[in-house]
Amino acid sequence: MHSSLSALHHLWLCYVTFLSLQLCARALPQQVGYGYRLVSLQESSGGGGLIGYLQVKQSTTAYGPDIPHLRLFVKHETQDRLRVHITDAENERWEVPYSLLPREQPPASGSSYGKSSSSPFTASEYAGDELVFSYIADPFAFAVRRKSNEQTLFNSSYGTMVFKDQYLEISTHLPESAALYGLGENTQPGGIRLQPNDPYTLYTTDISAINLNTDLYGSHPVYMDLRNVEGGASAHAVLLLNSNGMDVFYRGSSLTYKVIGGVFDFYFFAGPTPLAVVEQYTSLIGRPAPMPYWALGFHQCRWGYRNLSVVEGVVEGYKNAQIPLDVIWNDDDHMDAAKDFTLDPVNYPRPKLLAFLDRIHSQGMKYIVLIDPGIAVNSTYGVFQRGMAKDVFIKYEGEPYLAQVWPGPVYFPDFLYSGTVSWWVDEIARFHKLVPVDGLWIDMNEASNFCTGKCEIPKDHVCPDPASTTPWICCLDCKNITSTRWDDPPYKINASGMEAPLGYKTIATSAVHHNGILEYNAHSIYGFSQAIATHKALLGLEGKRPFILSRSTFVGSGAYAAHWTGDNKGTWNDLRYSISTMLNFGIFGMPMVGSDICGFYPQPTEELCNRWIELGAFYPFSRDHANFASPRQELYQWDSVAKSARNALGLRYKLLPYLYTLNYEAHISGAPIARPVFFSFPNFTATYGLSTQFLLGSSVMVSPVLKQGASSVRALFPPGTWYSLFDLTNAVVSKDERYITLDAPLNEVNVHVYQNTILPMQQGGMISKEARTTPFTLVVTFPLGATQGDAKGNVYVDDDERPEMKLVEGEATYVDFYASVREKRVTVWSEVKMGTFSLEKGLTIEKVCVLGLGGTGKGLAIEVDGQPLNDISDVYFRESPTVHVEKLEGGNKRNS
Ligand code: NOJ
Repeated sequence: MHSSLSALHHLWLCYVTFLSLQLCARALPQQVGYGYRLVSLQESSGGGGLIGYLQVKQSTTAYGPDIPHLRLFVKHETQDRLRVHITDAENERWEVPYSLLPREQPPASGSSYGKSSSSPFTASEYAGDELVFSYIADPFAFAVRRKSNEQTLFNSSYGTMVFKDQYLEISTHLPESAALYGLGENTQPGGIRLQPNDPYTLYTTDISAINLNTDLYGSHPVYMDLRNVEGGASAHAVLLLNSNGMDVFYRGSSLTYKVIGGVFDFYFFAGPTPLAVVEQYTSLIGRPAPMPYWALGFHQCRWGYRNLSVVEGVVEGYKNAQIPLDVIWNDDDHMDAAKDFTLDPVNYPRPKLLAFLDRIHSQGMKYIVLIDPGIAVNSTYGVFQRGMAKDVFIKYEGEPYLAQVWPGPVYFPDFLYSGTVSWWVDEIARFHKLVPVDGLWIDMNEASNFCTGKCEIPKDHVCPDPASTTPWICCLDCKNITSTRWDDPPYKINASGMEAPLGYKTIATSAVHHNGILEYNAHSIYGFSQAIATHKALLGLEGKRPFILSRSTFVGSGAYAAHWTGDNKGTWNDLRYSISTMLNFGIFGMPMVGSDICGFYPQPTEELCNRWIELGAFYPFSRDHANFASPRQELYQWDSVAKSARNALGLRYKLLPYLYTLNYEAHISGAPIARPVFFSFPNFTATYGLSTQFLLGSSVMVSPVLKQGASSVRALFPPGTWYSLFDLTNAVVSKDERYITLDAPLNEVNVHVYQNTILPMQQGGMISKEARTTPFTLVVTFPLGATQGDAKGNVYVDDDERPEMKLVEGEATYVDFYASVREKRVTVWSEVKMGTFSLEKGLTIEKVCVLGLGGTGKGLAIEVDGQPLNDISDVYFRESPTVHVEKLEGGNKRNS
């Protein structure tokens, strides 16, 4: 086969004109004589695109032999998405399963090799609507260019392309001015903008989020590149869809991927706005899952609620302190000996638990519990027995792979196998009959293992040891496995930040899933596959909208689950880092994200906890969670924290209609709920690295205090008028990108709404179920002193019972609001896109609050939805806040 194919290559070569393109002006550090040569290129016979074949030029031996022939598939899949796929031309290779992440399948490897009758592609470029693919043939390199401004977005001629079984390398040149975001999950001390770093390692890993610049729980090999170029800023994104471990070296002027398996499957998203990038990205990987309304309320959790009375006390504590609470959680404390889907008969007796759930459910509160993927190996445990009978577990040398987690010895279900998925769906249905939970928390799914290698149950002692207070501390014997090239690959990624073995505290990489899938390849999609199975299970229960919180995530996880940023510390640094990680997850298509408020461990100071709830109240996913060893840190434990919580969560609960509308927009377009400020102000480069403030939607900006001892905050205000949401008469007017110092006493956080906005707010309350039925106020903002201007906003309403979030007549309403001021005439009107839902539910707009108008207000006419308002006493109208803050530095003025 090989020789006839080579002959064919030569034949094709005659037809192809190779044009060397100006890929970049820089010197190219390609190694002369190495890499691949493009030997043919033709139009694909089916469905468009180009197919080319590459031949290795000169073999190298480092990291194993080169794959001699590669197949290149290039396609403009949509007007703003280009795909470049490179794989072995003769043998099928591992790819992220098409069943898990549905997408177009390139022609099968080998099958079309030389058989196509399509004509050779002789042009030097292959252009789509906005992106242009170009190439050089020898050594093969490709570039992607933006048509509208001629910017080169990606240029692989920067380095030599390498393609071996266990080592793939490719580089691109980058202009120094490019601001990059993404490549996570990673705690980045330098803020949201990626810093040249050595390297960004992507491999799902259970090491706590306090570890900086290391691989963490999720793998998202995607970056957004924002450039401020002549004619306006433009953003694009590059996804390398590959689930194998990788190091990505970002060096400022270049980026190099070093990947230990799989294929090059690049997707380029044209943008050009950051929002358009996320829209295009999530149209490929799946739109974010819609969240139920209550999930946007406040959540309280703790590892160590040792019995039900403690949990009941927590709910009482929130009620007494008048702090809103929607969801109460159990970590693994409700379980019998840390076994999934069980109840501790002594500390969480079922009848008492059911009575408790009846009570809180009747008030609208929800209950969520944790499950881990590791299933206790215990012959008297039904979940285990049924799993064994259905052969659901990952294997090692023909036997279920033995690991150790909280219950002691465990086996890991193989969620890539359909038999496992049906077993899991059934186990969740059984559990739901036992305990009617409202959502599930899937933890430790990187997957986390307390052993490295392979565990063995020791002959001489009982495991887990019931007498031990820490039964998980090595009760099994762990044996290192280094025997195969999967356990000990030739190239070592910087796993766990210390070049740890790939199997370090996880499933051995030579373990196998069903259908012969190697853990080596599938490792980073373990949590993703578990989220998909869990989502299926929850959907099947009551037909309600599922809520899942997953620690480990991959490209596409956002379509199924929310995420929290894992085990952080109660430190000021961790408070700061939480913003960048949250904002990155918005870019990853997982907008429902937050960090453990007040820190997972150890004890936060009272001051820190104040500041943390002031920030955390505006995380899309807002949950206080702590480790069993930390002192209690529910928000009511300190008077001052309770006060800050009432203040900040009080505003959050008033903003719930806005947050729920953002949840809808995230679901239909991928738009992050919490966004970097540059999403709304991409032309202001000062926002590019801004990691201490963020936006909710396009126009609400949160500027929290992140420093110990501070009672003011320096905050960047892009030009325009910003109204404080805690005091609408208080405006900040910024003329350019300026830092302004604002008062921020211990119990106050600064949250502003931008001009030209109509913000739907309600009256708040102690629980979202009640808050959502209160009358609306529309806050209409014009630039301060405006005699002319426009504002707009919108609201989405439904009852969140349906799994989908879409505009179904009678079940959901989407209303656009508009306002304009022209001299003395203010007009506010709405356009109901669909539905009578809000009217049926008795939702009304009680107040319209117009901000920023110039003049005295005399002779002013207001019209709301076509009706003149002669009596404006029921309209909150505030004209011309008197404070006019321009380029204010070093001081703060407030209007009282
Ligand atoms: C690890 C999780 O990150 C943490 O949040 C949880 O409390 C513990 N597992 C115990 O389940």
